Amino acid sequence: MATEVGRSAAPPGIPLDRFPAAPTGPSVEQIEGPYYIGGEGDRLTRSDVREGKDGVPLDLGVRVVSGADGRPVPDVAVDLWHCDALGVYSGYDNDPDELLPNGARQDPRTDDRFLRGTQLTDADGVVRFRSIFPGWYSPRTPHLHLRLRAGDRPVHTTQLYFPERVIAWVATQEPYRQRADRRAATNDDDFVIGVAGGPSDAWARTERVRDGLVATATLAVDVTTDAVEFALDDPPPEVVGPPPGFGVRHGFAHPADRA
Ligand SMILES: [Fe+2]
Repeated sequence: MATEVGRSAAPPGIPLDRFPAAPTGPSVEQIEGPYYIGGEGDRLTRSDVREGKDGVPLDLGVRVVSGADGRPVPDVAVDLWHCDALGVYSGYDNDPDELLPNGARQDPRTDDRFLRGTQLTDADGVVRFRSIFPGWYSPRTPHLHLRLRAGDRPVHTTQLYFPERVIAWVATQEPYRQRADRRAATNDDDFVIGVAGGPSDAWARTERVRDGLVATATLAVDVTTDAVEFALDDPPPEVVGPPPGFGVRHGFAHPADRA
């Protein structure tokens, strides 16, 4: 059954010159994780995924270009999902004891679907979402999940990350600041970032605007090949770590720090 996907009205305005330049090679894929929910039909076709969730406003733009020639790729379905400010994914209670030890996809246990949405890339290869900045949960650093599809066929699975200074600022805002638990991982020691492999387009360009943040990423994808299916019991990849500016050990002059 074909999935109904569209471009819902009034996505956040993020001009094209805000996006990072097209990568010089194909973007690196990353594991899907346990919390993807597919098969929702048109229910998740929306640019505003907040459903009233509290958090620092985050407008996200993702641009999809061809890994072969850098041209924008229209009509790619982009699924976004991430946790709320308290580290909870809709559809799950994040109880680690109920998850499979290998991190494989889990069936949802509730009907809530906040902070999940799907949009189709436009003629510029762009989708835009309005959300909140993700919180953290053990054992991960804050991140967004993306799955790109050509129709129902997954063609690319990845995650996006934010500079540590941005995460530190967000942690001082409501409701993140109410959390008693410390982050279990930073960008410097997150185990999935090792898969992203150092300098890559997995690092969202993030800017402070008004009361929130705008993040953009440009992904180079071959939509004629299927997404990588990670073998979850493979040995862990070599951990490379984030590029300068994204880890706690690096200085980063982010606009959020000057505010
Ligand atoms: Fe996650």
